Amino acid sequence: MTTSWDTTDVLKAPMEVCWQFSYDIDQEELSKLYSKAKKFQWNAESDMNWDYEIDPSRPLIDEDRFGLSAVPFVQSLPKSQQEALRAHIAAYQLSQFLHGEQGALMTAAALTHAVPDYEGKLYAATQTMDEARHVEVYDRYIKKLAMIYPMGEWLKKLIDITLTADHWVKIAIGMNMVVEGLALGSFHNMRNVTGCELLKEILHYVMRDEARHVAFGGFYVGKTIEQMHEDDREDVAEFAFEALKLMRGSKIRSGPQFDGGFLQVLQAVNIDPADLVKGVMEARQQGVKVKPPSDQVHAFKHLMMPALFRVGAITPRTREKLVEAEIPIWEDRSVLESMEEKLETMA
Ligand SMILES: [Fe+2]
Ligand SMILES: [Fe+2]
Repeated sequence: MTTSWDTTDVLKAPMEVCWQFSYDIDQEELSKLYSKAKKFQWNAESDMNWDYEIDPSRPLIDEDRFGLSAVPFVQSLPKSQQEALRAHIAAYQLSQFLHGEQGALMTAAALTHAVPDYEGKLYAATQTMDEARHVEVYDRYIKKLAMIYPMGEWLKKLIDITLTADHWVKIAIGMNMVVEGLALGSFHNMRNVTGCELLKEILHYVMRDEARHVAFGGFYVGKTIEQMHEDDREDVAEFAFEALKLMRGSKIRSGPQFDGGFLQVLQAVNIDPADLVKGVMEARQQGVKVKPPSDQVHAFKHLMMPALFRVGAITPRTREKLVEAEIPIWEDRSVLESMEEKLETMA
């Protein structure tokens, strides 16, 4: 499979690296997570049914679960073009999973270098292996589809600011809370909308690992922020605010500002972006709900922001900044907590 974009990008990172010569276990929760991670390792090569045939006539996203299917303009397209659109959008989403997992692989390795606790380093090493497996499993699946798209511009930017942060807490916020919150929501939603058994199986295994990654962010970051000097806490909160602003900005973009990769999707299925924008706007004016099914999780609102509030990564000062930036505040943890409970049972 060849790509039409640059395949290498080099960044300079200023992060502090920390040796730890005390091998005592003081953080029981981290030690437990490390044990759990060792017990639940799996092999992307042999534990999946790679012989499963992906039916090319059946798009990965079922028609009744595809938000754009409700748009009259999309309905007016020939059936084969509608199916191609669904197939390419699914490939675009899966490509984001793949590139995002590579970002997670590198940030987990960075955490191994930088966290101050011995058991934190052991845990982060298992997350690094988990993420390597996730990259492998999505890469294998995408190769079966034979369709790959570049990384979304805002996702790349979000992971870049995380990778080039100067403190491990910022890296854990950017990855374990913001990007993995987004990933968990997307994996959950994809598992609900796909009819492909192999993809469902992959998502199940990946989400089981992600449960540990999110748990790590939840308690280790919270505990560290609590013990920080006020100035450092504000510095971390500023980073969380920037990450949220970046995420939010991605949702408001539309029309001619479509992401380059998404424009490639439209080009591949022969749809003029201006026609799609016009069609969606007309549908909205007619009261058509261009929305995914109601059982879909809204990662930003249900997972990310409540998780950041919970660990103290949003301070009264940055809360005000969010309001000024017209970013709605969501503190309700009910979806986050029920998702965590579900993941706990999977693990
Ligand atoms: Fe992952
Ligand atoms: Fe992860």
